[in-house]
Amino acid sequence: MSGQKLKQLVKEYWNKEACGTQASTSKKFSKEYFEEIEEHRYKLEPEIFSFAQFTRFRGKSVLEVGVGAGSDFIQWVRAGSIAYGIDLTEEAIEHVKKRLELFDLKAQEIKVADAENIPYPDDTFDLVYSWGVIHHSPNTEKALEEIIRVTKNGGRIKLMIYNRRSIYAFYKYIRYGLLKGKPFRSFEQIFYYHQESPGTKAYTIKEFKKILQRYPVEIIQISAKATNYDLKWNIPKIVRFFPYILSFLLGYEKVGWFMIIELKKIA
Ligand SMILES: C[S@@+](CC[C@H](N)C(=O)[O-])C[C@H]1O[C@@H](n2cnc3c(N)ncnc32)[C@H](O)[C@@H]1O
Repeated sequence: MSGQKLKQLVKEYWNKEACGTQASTSKKFSKEYFEEIEEHRYKLEPEIFSFAQFTRFRGKSVLEVGVGAGSDFIQWVRAGSIAYGIDLTEEAIEHVKKRLELFDLKAQEIKVADAENIPYPDDTFDLVYSWGVIHHSPNTEKALEEIIRVTKNGGRIKLMIYNRRSIYAFYKYIRYGLLKGKPFRSFEQIFYYHQESPGTKAYTIKEFKKILQRYPVEIIQISAKATNYDLKWNIPKIVRFFPYILSFLLGYEKVGWFMIIELKKIA
């Protein structure tokens, strides 16, 4: 399938329902709706706060790539950043605009745009942040290249992408490989067809470090601690200890579903 066709499918997928909004049962675009989304998000993904460090970017220009329903984006705004946001879908941008309006917050700019073709000049932002996005874009490397391009020299880049060597990936393999009678199904195929939008990818830390070697960046951190997705499987109670044992044996610090990457752009 061509990259353009796949991107259209990705867009259709996220346009049906903005990311994370299924967590709410309240009326769409009400205050309660957004509050439930926010509460659920940080319960499920608490690592975001220590990684993003929203308040350290007060007064700095921040671009968030792939804002989704905007939970992180409003943290940038609340923290006093000069916040810009883009997403491939109208649904996400509408969510963020409504959310800002409802909570009386002001962002610099929020618009529909493609991570593979970011509509800002070179060396514009102090920070480019993107949580769980570029692995959904057909040309992930092009998105990475664009993110680096629009970051100022000396500026920071904070990314989360999926880690293929994770406990969660193993869970997916059991579910969509072993239990479907397809033990030889590759992890690539499983993510392509069974992880959110079509064509999703997951990388190993080693693979991603190799990709990064091609770009003018210094790695500040790259890690993958076990997350709630790795540890809290939806399985019978009696075997719920299993992922904990597995992560203990394989190394809690590197088997997490979220590969967290912080980079500094160098000249
Ligand atoms: C898993 S959601 C993550 C959203 C948000 N960062 C969060 O953590 O809730 C993926 C988001 O990436 C967006 N996306 C996918 N491909 C994109 C692209 N090429 N350019 C911009 N946004 C993209 C989708 O529209 C969707 O909102």
